[in-house]
Amino acid sequence: MKSSTWAVFALLVTAGVSQVVAAECVDSPGNVLQVCVFTENGSAYYEVTRRGHPVLQRSALGLVFDGEKVPRLVVAGTAQRASRDSTWEQPWGEERRIRDRHNEMRVSLRGDTQNTSAFDVVVRAFDDGFGFRYDFMGVPSGRAVAVADELTQFKPAGAYDAWWFPAYEKERDEYLYERTPLDRITKAETPLTLESSQLYLSIHEAALIDYASMTLERTATGTLKADLMAWSDGIKVRRTGPFQTPWRTVLVSETPAGLADSRLTLNLNEPNKLGDVSWAKPAKYVGIWWEMHLNRSTWGSGPKHGATTANTKRYIDFAAKYGFDGVLVEGWNTGWDGDWIANGAGFSFTKSYPDFNLAEVTAYARRKGVVLIGHNETAGAIQNYESQMEAGFRQYEKYGVTSVKTGYVKPNGTIQRITPDGAAHNEWFAGQYLVRHHQLVAETAARYKIAIDAHEPVKDTGLRRTWPNLLSREGARGQEFNAWGDPTNPPEHVVILPLTRLLAGPMDFTPGIFDITEGGKPDVAKRVQSTLANQLALYVVIYSPLHMAADLPEHYEKHLDAFQFIRDVPTDWERSRTLDAKIGDYIAVARQERGGNDWYLGALTDEQARTLNVSLDFLDPKRRYEAQIYRDAPQADYRTHPIAYEIKRQSVSAKDQLTLKLAPGGGTAIRFKAME
Ligand code: NOJ
Repeated sequence: MKSSTWAVFALLVTAGVSQVVAAECVDSPGNVLQVCVFTENGSAYYEVTRRGHPVLQRSALGLVFDGEKVPRLVVAGTAQRASRDSTWEQPWGEERRIRDRHNEMRVSLRGDTQNTSAFDVVVRAFDDGFGFRYDFMGVPSGRAVAVADELTQFKPAGAYDAWWFPAYEKERDEYLYERTPLDRITKAETPLTLESSQLYLSIHEAALIDYASMTLERTATGTLKADLMAWSDGIKVRRTGPFQTPWRTVLVSETPAGLADSRLTLNLNEPNKLGDVSWAKPAKYVGIWWEMHLNRSTWGSGPKHGATTANTKRYIDFAAKYGFDGVLVEGWNTGWDGDWIANGAGFSFTKSYPDFNLAEVTAYARRKGVVLIGHNETAGAIQNYESQMEAGFRQYEKYGVTSVKTGYVKPNGTIQRITPDGAAHNEWFAGQYLVRHHQLVAETAARYKIAIDAHEPVKDTGLRRTWPNLLSREGARGQEFNAWGDPTNPPEHVVILPLTRLLAGPMDFTPGIFDITEGGKPDVAKRVQSTLANQLALYVVIYSPLHMAADLPEHYEKHLDAFQFIRDVPTDWERSRTLDAKIGDYIAVARQERGGNDWYLGALTDEQARTLNVSLDFLDPKRRYEAQIYRDAPQADYRTHPIAYEIKRQSVSAKDQLTLKLAPGGGTAIRFKAME
């Protein structure tokens, strides 16, 4: 820790007029970013520059409490300062060792009203972005407060386009992204990526604990404001003192790749609270899943029931034969018959359908060296799940299940919360009620050594650092939309996700569909819109410690040579590098397998054919590698020849460049096998 050497006065450009205002400023360690906090006429603001150029103009800070007057704030005394430059290790992840290098300042603001008018703004400046949070440490222990509004603004300097979809819609975070001028935003989910001719910004939050999710509302020209997902009575957040808010974060980079390779969100979360989490393991899995989405079998009981003992054994055999770690089984428990989305309270988390024998399949799996991946679809019936989850996890633990996929399919805003007086309240999928619920699930599951893969989740804010049993989650349009979406995901979707949703953290996208036409569907817009090589590249480009080989076993057996890539590709990495990217057009990512010397590369394009030249300088310069290249064949095109691929091998070193030819909707996947 070193003491302050920062200027307390800064030249601030406010509404186009330069003026000298008393401000507390913090520079990032490499003097790239500067964040200043100040008050003016009783209101608190911050402002950000990058190498002297404005990034965020004067933007408001603070919370408004229910029933309390908005205080007139002043900065009290000089800011406290701290610095950190340390490296920590992830038990699993996209990068083993993460450097946390930042300068911190804590600015105390004091007001003229209640206990809540004294708070600190804690700012951490990194070279690739910054975060700040409010620390209401002065609220007496146990005193209840209700947040009526958060004033935080983000006012980017200059003209930006936004990559966004509207928040608060029925399907939560499962929408296609659009690129529009920032001023077309109504309310947007975060991470929100902004693009100008010079800079890329990503606005998000870190360590979302016991608070409401933040979305961003455009409130005036060029102005985004924190919009907290309220409880059904309109209160945004209920807390007791003392408390801190999540971090509000902004990544700042000259390139899209710089956003993708930032580890700022993880750095702003607390270290691992679970200790030894060797049971929370990255894995590749297959499962009884795609067949239901294709409507070839059903979650519910009947002649087409998918989760039978016999079918599960078939998948276990397949997993064992080809070296997969797990088999997901959906639809094994009672409650799926009829309209399960409307009747989520009917789900049992311990009782199997009669044609599924949990003891038998788990014993069978164990003999074959495979684990069962559990499934708890709650349909948003939170209280039903909370009343049974302990028993459900206990049963899963007894049968050797170490990870559970959860689900919260329910139109946004209709999550029912029944209060003791019997009244029903409708809550949002990511308000404080659900944030608390997901936290409870994580902590309860951890007691049973169970890892969680939440679908329809609250967005990721880096909590996997603190609770590393939060392995993966969905929270975007995944592969399932390619079964029944109308339209399905267009090719550009997977070259937008890595620079938007995936900036938050891992995604269980479920790649790997080989039967691209899904049994011969004639309409491209109603099936997978990619080539087979693109499906392979997704395993590298989309980071997830849990990756599914989503297609049916018989489809893989038709293309065992291409399937080899899915068998080989790891789900745990030593390091990850985004080599090149243009949001919505293309991306190339390289990752080194954890604890090994092999590297993997994934490259994807949108609907345009493209040639990418990639330098292999990420490889170890002292080695040679066999590049095993899975690429689009010359005639490949996601519309006409989606399956056409070829596999080539060549010897390469770090000095080489590779020219990747990507078909429309195509991709390239490469394993660089280190030679002895
Ligand atoms: C939606 C999930 O995303 C999907 O993976 C799952 O199969 C269904 N819900 C049923 O739980």
